[in-house]
Formats: sequence, structure tokens, C-alpha cells
Amino acid sequence: MATRVLQAVAVLSSLLGGTASTSIAEIQGNAFLSPLNGQRVSGVTGLVTAKAHNGFYLAGEPVDDVRVSTGLYVYTTSSDVLDSVTVGDSISLSGIVSEFRSSSKPDYLFLTELASPSSIEVLSSNNTISPVILGYDRSPPTQKLSALDVGDDGWLTVPNNNTRIEEINPTLVPTVYGLDFWESLEGQLVQIPSPIALNFENTYGEFWAHGNWTVTGKNARGGLSLNFGLDGFPDANPEAILIGNPLDGTDNPKVAVGVTLSDIVGVVHYQFGFYQVIPLTAPTILAVPSETAQPASIKADDDACSLFFGDYNVENMAPTSKHVPDVANHIAAYLHNPDILFLQEIQDNSGPKDDGTISANITLATLTNAIKNISGVAYSYVDIDPEDGQDGGQPGGNIRQAYLYRSDKLELVPGSPAGTALDRVQVQESTDGTPVLNFNPGRIDPESPAWDSSRKPLVAHWQTPSGARLFTVNLHLTSKGGSATTHANGRTPVNLGVEQRTSQVEHVAAFVQSLLAADPAANIIISGDFNEYAQTRSVLRALEDAGAVEADEVAGVAEVERYTYVYDQNTEQLDHAFVSGAIAGRGVEVEHVHVNNWARTYAERISDHDPSVGKVWLCARA
Ligand SMILES: *[C@@H]1O[C@H](CO)[C@@H](O)[C@H](O)[C@H]1NC(C)=O
Ligand SMILES: *[C@@H]1O[C@H](CO)[C@@H](O)[C@H](O)[C@H]1NC(C)=O
Ligand SMILES: *[C@@H]1O[C@H](CO)[C@@H](O)[C@H](O)[C@H]1NC(C)=O
Ligand SMILES: *[C@@H]1O[C@H](CO)[C@@H](O)[C@H](O)[C@H]1NC(C)=O
Ligand SMILES: *[C@@H]1O[C@H](CO)[C@@H](O)[C@H](O)[C@H]1NC(C)=O
Repeated sequence: MATRVLQAVAVLSSLLGGTASTSIAEIQGNAFLSPLNGQRVSGVTGLVTAKAHNGFYLAGEPVDDVRVSTGLYVYTTSSDVLDSVTVGDSISLSGIVSEFRSSSKPDYLFLTELASPSSIEVLSSNNTISPVILGYDRSPPTQKLSALDVGDDGWLTVPNNNTRIEEINPTLVPTVYGLDFWESLEGQLVQIPSPIALNFENTYGEFWAHGNWTVTGKNARGGLSLNFGLDGFPDANPEAILIGNPLDGTDNPKVAVGVTLSDIVGVVHYQFGFYQVIPLTAPTILAVPSETAQPASIKADDDACSLFFGDYNVENMAPTSKHVPDVANHIAAYLHNPDILFLQEIQDNSGPKDDGTISANITLATLTNAIKNISGVAYSYVDIDPEDGQDGGQPGGNIRQAYLYRSDKLELVPGSPAGTALDRVQVQESTDGTPVLNFNPGRIDPESPAWDSSRKPLVAHWQTPSGARLFTVNLHLTSKGGSATTHANGRTPVNLGVEQRTSQVEHVAAFVQSLLAADPAANIIISGDFNEYAQTRSVLRALEDAGAVEADEVAGVAEVERYTYVYDQNTEQLDHAFVSGAIAGRGVEVEHVHVNNWARTYAERISDHDPSVGKVWLCARA
């Protein structure tokens, strides 16, 4: 009934005013950009569904074409205009169709909006508004983000930013591509039933969630892991959506991975690089995961051949860092004091103070003392001071990798000097024909441009009391910082540093190859913060080609449980251990210990990375 009245009014007004009316569907069209961009339109009718600080949202007449949104954001800074409409009003208005981007750079997508609204007429009030119920009326696809993400690694294919959505303006395929799905609802009022948070809130109070709809990559905690889809291509989790700041000025609750919230009703919007649902009002927390992070189930044993190792990016640790005792507690109580620990982000003795200090012996002594204080276990440590300011990371901090090791379990193979920052580690043949290092420890190709402003890998050669030997490579590849958002205009999204990481892995792989050329049965563990996912296969290929195998793969860890990090919508693995064939052949155990990413609040998280532990056998298992 209301619809008929509305149509009649529209016809009448166009007869009287002589102006044609334009529907919201015509403004939105079936692609990313409006076919009417830049044009003045009049007789636009819609129901006011929500009001924002600088505008309001309209719902137009429904259409059968799922590619076409029937929602529209009307932009205005005029309080008179804003005051003239009320949620529930059916209105007609004129305005200028415009594509707005919240950045001068072309990395974000445009939002279609109606600007400079005028001739606003309220046709009726108190109309009922029904949101599109996601998971019921419409459901997001679960694997791909964009038709433009082509290549062997799907959305992680290099080179990145080869094409841009807004230059091609593809026709939407919302059943297959996530960006198309959210675009096809742009401006519409939607309901997210039973939302589950996928991360902590960000610094703006926004958080990622999925609702009660089909998802893939779900891990036991409730997050969505990066993994491979059934077709073998990386899954980009397009079924996740960012929840923005509520329109009514309430604050979203503080969330964490796996937190269940009350239903969210909000409008679909794109800003600052992401599609988001902006709630009308803040949801409340209904349930939090009851489980807390448990200590690793893997422990050291008394088999003389077994080696129990751990890996932990301890996030900018200086002697004065407040988190030293927490990390020490993680190592002692949750990782059970591994025989050897591969640590990353150990800062020099003066922390971020840029005073020329490069030694980290006080930092490492502070940490090992704290572990000893808690558990009685005394660790020795070894690292190589970088050249001041040359290895990237927090300015002044001179972060580096270090090994903590239990001298009752391991010692450095004697006979080679310790390398310094620019000494290049190489494999040499010892008198008995087994490979040894010219520097122990040493750094891989420290003067290669591959390591510019980045951490050089720390290599060491070890022996156990029973005479078994092991080479280790402790990595911290260049960071992804500054990468584009997954919902970016440029496809595939810019994965900053990916070329450098690929080159870094090639250098590591060449070193591993030189070890295996000298001894095909060499025990080698390459572990650390790769700052890259296993799904970016192009980066890790060289290491795999060199004969190293990912420990998770050998251990058969469920793909969705392989994670050490949570970023935006994705639970992901940035920290990896690779082992040589000799080690892989004896079997491997691995566990990621979620002491940080299972924290109840962001503030309770100690480091951004979760640590991992693993067990390998350096000689035939007992
Ligand atoms: C809309 O409803 C409210 C309360 O339900 C009422 O006060 C108001 O008069 C109604 N407005 C119109 C135009 O019917
Ligand atoms: C993507 O490419 C465009 C066009 O060359 C360029 O303007 C933009 O800066 C690039 N984006 C990133 C993040 O590199
Ligand atoms: C999810 O939706 C299904 C129906 O589609 C319903 O049976 C189920 O109870 C819902 N689950 C939650 C957690 O709301
Ligand atoms: C750190 O190294 C300096 C220089 O070798 C030495 O004087 C100092 O005692 C060391 N401190 C610790 C805690 O090992
Ligand atoms: C040693 O542990 C106790 C608590 O067990 C703590 O109060 C103290 O600060 C710790 N000392 C060091 C050096 O970590």
C-alpha cells in the first residue's frame, strides 16, 4: 500500500515539476562505480534508514538484481538538512551523484553517495524499516575477494597492484567475490545475526566479525584462519566484515577472538580502505571463550636424540621492558623451557634510545635471569650485534635475533670464531669431512642488498652431549608494515616487502643448499618470524626447492590451527619452522601456544606474536 502511494507521489511530482525521477538502483548500477557519477539527479525516493554525523542512509525500492544495491548514503554537513529528515521518513530529494574516497591516494575504493541534497520532501513518516538479514536473505562468499585477483596464489599473487578495480569497474559477481558482495549492499541496512569477533578491536574501536552464515577456515578459538580453499587457492576470508563505530555515539565493547555479541543492525559503508557495517548502536557481549591458553603439551624427554625447541618474537624487548617477566613466564610455564629458543626482536641494552649502543647482553641477561628466577633453569645466550641502525625495526632499538640455550643440552660446535655484523657465514669441510661453519655463530650474506634495513639471519652450529649435530637459522624477514588493505583498489593488494622477503628467502635457501651439498643428511632447523603466510607460496618456494619442509606440514597440524598472529580479519601464521629432510624423516611435533592471541583483551596481550614449540630428533629415535 505504502509503495503504491509512493509511486503515485513520484509520478505526480514528475508530472508537476516536469523532472524525471531516478531510482537508487539506477544510481548504484551493477558495478563498483555509479553509471551516473557526477550527474545531478532529482526525484530520488527512499526511506531514511539511519542518520549519521554527516549524512543519512536511504533504502530505495527493491530490485530483483542482487548485483544492484538499493541503499544510498546521502552526504551533507548541513544540520538543517539533517534535521529535516527522521528515520522512518519516506522522502524524495535531488542531489549530485558522486564517488567519494577518504584519501587522496588511489589505494582505497570509492563510496557512491548523493551529495548536495536539495528539494527534500517528506512523503510519509513512521514507515517500518526491515534490514537485509545476512546469512538469511543474502550471504557473503567465503573464498575470493575480487575477480582481479588472478594468478597462482590468488589474492596473494605477485606482482601486486597490477590492476585497479576502479579503472576496470567490473560488473559485480556478489555470489563469488567478497568485495562485489559488500559493494552490492553498499548503503543498505543489514542485520548481522549472532556476530563473532575475529580479532581485538583496533585503535578506533572497530572490530572484525562474521555472523551466522557459512564460513570457511574457522579455527577452534572462533577466528578465521588463512588457509587454502578447496580449489587449492588461498582463501581471503571475504565473509568477514569490519564493524565500525556505532552511529548513535555509543562505544563498541572491547572484544577478542571468539567473543559472541548481540545482533548488529547497521549500514554497509566503505571508508578508510574497508567495507564495514556501521552499527546503529553498539552490540553487547553475550559470551566469551571460556578456555584460556594452555601450556604446550609437547615437553622435553630423556631421549638423547630428541631436541625440544621454541620460537618467540618477543616484540621489542629491552632491559627495561615491562613485559620481560611475562615473557619469562611464557617460556618457563607455557613452553616448558625448551632446549633452544629462537628469539626475535631483542633490542640493544638502551632499547629504543638511539645512542649508538648495539650490545644486547643486558637485555638477554635480564630475560635469562627472569626465567631462572621463575623456573630455576639457567639459559645461555648468543647473538651478533648488528651495525648500528642498519637492521630496521623500531629506530634506535637495533632489534636482532638471539638464541637462548640450555648448556646441559647443547653447545656451540667449538673451533670457529663468532662472526660480527658483516662477517659472512659459509660452510666449510672439517678434517673429518663433516660440514662446519667459518663463523659460529654467523650471519647470512650480511652485505647483500636483500638485507637492507632488515635483520640478517643468525646461523649457528650446535652439538649435543651425545655428539649429535644441528645447524640452526634464526630469521626475522622484512616487515609487511604499510601494506594495502585486503579491500584495496589495487589488486592483488600491495603486500609490502614481498619482493624483498622473496629475495631474503632465496639467500637463506642458497645457504641451506650449501649445507646440504656438504652433507645431505645434515640436521637443519630454519625458524623465526617470516612476516609471511605459507599461502604466499612464491615467497617460500626457494626454501622448499632447497629441500626444507615446513614443520607444521610434517607434524600434520590441522591447517586452520596453524597460526601465530591475528591481523584484521585473519588469524594467520607469520612464524614458521622449516626442517631439513633428515629431520623431517624422523618425524616432527609442533604446537603454537596461543598465550597472546587468546588474551581476553588487547591490553592483556604480551607480544603481538604467539610462541611455538617443536620437537625433532637429531639421530634415530630411541
Ligand atoms: C510517528 O509515531 C510517533 C510515535 O510512535 C508519533 O508521535 C508521531 O506523531 C508519528 N508521526 C507521524 C507523522 O505519524
Ligand atoms: C598502485 O598503483 C597505482 C598506479 O600506479 C599507484 O598510484 C598506487 O600508489 C599504487 N599503490 C600502492 C599501494 O603501491
Ligand atoms: C544460525 O541460523 C540457523 C538457521 O539458519 C539457526 O538454526 C541457528 O540456531 C543459528 N545459530 C545461531 C548461533 O544463532
Ligand atoms: C655486557 O658486555 C660488556 C662488554 O663486554 C660487559 O662489560 C658487561 O659486563 C656485560 N654485561 C652483562 C650483563 O653480561
Ligand atoms: C623474581 O620472581 C619474583 C616472584 O617470584 C619477583 O617478585 C621478582 O621481581 C623476580 N625477580 C627478577 C629479577 O625477575
